[in-house]
Amino acid sequence: MRPFSLVKGILLSVRNLRFVADNGGQLTGTLRVPGDKSISHRSIMLGSLAEGVTRISGFLEGDDSLATLRAFRRMGVRIEGPVGGEVTVHGVGMHGLKGPDSSLDLGNSGTSMRLMSGLLAGQGFDATLVGDSSLSGRPMKRVTDPLASMGAVIETRPGGTAPLRIRSVKALRGIDYDMPVASAQVKSCLLLAGLYAEGETCIREPAPTRDHTERMLQGFGYEVRRDGSRVCLSGGGTLKACDIDVPADVSSAAFFLVGASIAEGSDLTLEHVGMNPTRDGVINILRLMGADIDVSNEREVGGEPVADLRVRSAPLKGIRIPEDQVPLAIDEFPVLFVAAACAEGETVLTGAEELRVKESDRIQVMADGLVALGVDARPTPDGIVIRGGTDRASFGGGHVDSHGDHRIAMAFTMAALRANAPISIDNCANVNTSFPGFVDLARGAGCRVSAEHD
Ligand code: S3P
Repeated sequence: MRPFSLVKGILLSVRNLRFVADNGGQLTGTLRVPGDKSISHRSIMLGSLAEGVTRISGFLEGDDSLATLRAFRRMGVRIEGPVGGEVTVHGVGMHGLKGPDSSLDLGNSGTSMRLMSGLLAGQGFDATLVGDSSLSGRPMKRVTDPLASMGAVIETRPGGTAPLRIRSVKALRGIDYDMPVASAQVKSCLLLAGLYAEGETCIREPAPTRDHTERMLQGFGYEVRRDGSRVCLSGGGTLKACDIDVPADVSSAAFFLVGASIAEGSDLTLEHVGMNPTRDGVINILRLMGADIDVSNEREVGGEPVADLRVRSAPLKGIRIPEDQVPLAIDEFPVLFVAAACAEGETVLTGAEELRVKESDRIQVMADGLVALGVDARPTPDGIVIRGGTDRASFGGGHVDSHGDHRIAMAFTMAALRANAPISIDNCANVNTSFPGFVDLARGAGCRVSAEHD
């Protein structure tokens, strides 16, 4: 029995998971998308290093955050759950982690690898971080270079990619670092290394990026100082366990914000959505395009703002996307390109070269898919130009490849709402990294999508 299920498991993971999205439909009702991925990762990391027991609710049970959870279990942290989004982390304190007996596999998760490289750089043990083929091709020098100036010793493959072999060192030194790219992962990595460094660690960001690490550190009682674009902390402190209520992920809500905006007759409410001002670019950009989004029931849970969002279909117009919104909507561009294809006139994105080094090259992969569906989409080195159409059908039907990128698979599922024939999308298994249950939730709201294995 066991060998058979093992073989079956391997077969399922290598077989293509295809989404087939029939054209048409509208989105209605009320739903809550799964928990925020960024906050879920950080809740495991800080909960593990804290003194005491951290209780997490609304934890994202997706492959990425589960990869982080398993990695900390392998370093000796007792973690119960997740059961229905509830996780209990029995913190081991700042110096209580144990060296893992073999490599830590972080799958597709860039956040796990970049944040953990900082957190592990100052431990008294060696650790090796590995990932899947997408993660093994993503740039890691952005974290290993500044970590090296803090005294960390990390070996990479030539070209600076994973596996990352982190060697135990005597001590790290604080750093005063001007980040060349606006990256929350780099900032968070260095802040986590800074917890173990002598003296002060300060990071300056060229543009605001998500600040969940800073907020959560403060929630765990660690002093973090912000002065304009600089954030600083001093090493050597301790974290006190606390309870964390993870809001619904605005990056997952984004698919439904766009879907309901473009599908005529839609009226959808999304509950308990994280509204952190460093993540709200998708709402600002959609509103500039003419979207009808009502924000209500604004409140704060565990140091993070949340609200309910009601979105009704509305005619969209093309815009030049303000560059200051790019880091605030960095994960939402695949689905924003779908909105642009349904908007009157031209949408121009610039200053977004980072999209080329996400789980896939999101500019090229989206442009290829849009063109395959008959959209006028022209990629540029740092963005894209999309000429939209407000006809009932802005997309032809056809076949696209998500290249194993979860957000591209979900973006094209929403495109089917405004297509004149079904869209089939290949390589969708990684939707589970950030949005387990996507197909069922999308169907419940009105998408005509189903999943099948080749
Ligand atoms: C994340 C930061 C962003 C984002 C990623 C999650 C985080 O990456 O794209 O999905 O949790 O810190 P960058 O910091 O590389 O922009």
